[in-house]
Amino acid sequence: MSKKIAVLVGSLRKGSFSKQIAKNLMGLFPEGYETEVIETGNLPLYNEDIDTEDSTPAEYTDFRNKLKDVDGVLFVTPEYNRSVPANLKNAIDVGSRPYGQSMWDGVPAAIVSVSPGAISGFGANHHLRQSLVFLNMPVVQQPEAYIGNVTNLLDDNGNVDDRTKGFLKSIDDALVDLIGRYSK
Ligand code: FNR
Repeated sequence: MSKKIAVLVGSLRKGSFSKQIAKNLMGLFPEGYETEVIETGNLPLYNEDIDTEDSTPAEYTDFRNKLKDVDGVLFVTPEYNRSVPANLKNAIDVGSRPYGQSMWDGVPAAIVSVSPGAISGFGANHHLRQSLVFLNMPVVQQPEAYIGNVTNLLDDNGNVDDRTKGFLKSIDDALVDLIGRYSK
């Protein structure tokens, strides 16, 4: 049976560079791996008052169900004000609750930060990493994936050149390796 990778993108923008990099990454997994983008833009802001045993927003339930059988998670995110965009942080919070039933626990992950700037989303990358430590997600350490000056890397069709493709593939391969080491 194929292994499933959930892809979460920290941008809601139609023409997002992060979405374009995510698409390239999704096409570079080896045979036997399926990838699916899980949308985060429809999730109400996390609020324990509306997430109770008696009633939970359908969007929370759908989101958690989509994460149920995944073998790994690929996070691809821009940086907003040196941190993680709110939609992605909100999705992480929604997936982490109810208390004791986190969908993230023990699931291997990789983080790719993307920016048109030279600092390459370093702040977002590491703030996200901090949350994943708390959530007990083993995270790819190397290669570190900071995609800077992204507008120079994408062509008009949203594709990267062979050199960048090789680097993106090395990130996928590292996640595949991590999944292999943690699979139950
Ligand atoms: C940004 N941008 C940005 N870039 C960066 O490298 N570091 C930062 O801290 C920020 N902060 C920031 C805050 C907000 C609110 C916005 C809207 C943007 C610029 C950002 O990298 C740029 O808009 C990217 O194009 C966003 O990623 P997507 O949507 O192309 O994936």
